[in-house]
Amino acid sequence: VSERTLVLIKPDGVARGLVGDVIGRIERKGLTIVAMDLRTLDADTAKAHYAEHSSKPFFDSLVEFITSGPLVAMVVEGPRAIEAFRGLAGLTDPVKAAPGTIRGDHALEIGENIVHGSDAPESASREIKIFFPDRF
Ligand code: CMP
Repeated sequence: VSERTLVLIKPDGVARGLVGDVIGRIERKGLTIVAMDLRTLDADTAKAHYAEHSSKPFFDSLVEFITSGPLVAMVVEGPRAIEAFRGLAGLTDPVKAAPGTIRGDHALEIGENIVHGSDAPESASREIKIFFPDRF
C-alpha cells in the first residue's frame, strides 16, 4: 500500500538554505526518500515537467524560475505519500498556506513557493520518469 511522489526543493528553497528543513519534515513525518539528486534543470526538462501549465500566462516565468539554479529532486515513498507530502507543503499560495506547513512557514510568493509535490498518481509516475528515467 505504498505510493511514490516526486518532490522538488525549488531553486528558491535551495538558495535560502531550506534543504535540511524540508528533508527533516519529510523524514519526521515517516516518509522515505528513495532517490535524491541536486541538479540544475535545462529548459526542455522544465517544460516537460510543467507541460500541463504550458498555456498559462505564467508558464514562461515558471520555466525561467525553475531553471534559475540548482534544485533538489526526490522520490518520496510511503502510505498515501502524494497527499502526505502535499499536507506538509501547504497550499500553493504561500499566503494562504497554514503556518506549520513548508510554504506557510517560509514563503509569500506563489511563484517562489519552495517545494513542488505531485498532485495525483498519474502525475507522480509521469514526473518521476522525467527526473529519474532509469531508476523507476
Ligand atoms: P507547483 O506545485 O510547482 O506547480 C505549478 C507551479 O506554478 C506552482 O507550484 C506555482 O509555483 C506556479 N504558479 C501557480 N500559479 C502561479 C501564478 N499565478 N504565477 C506564477 N506562478 C504560479
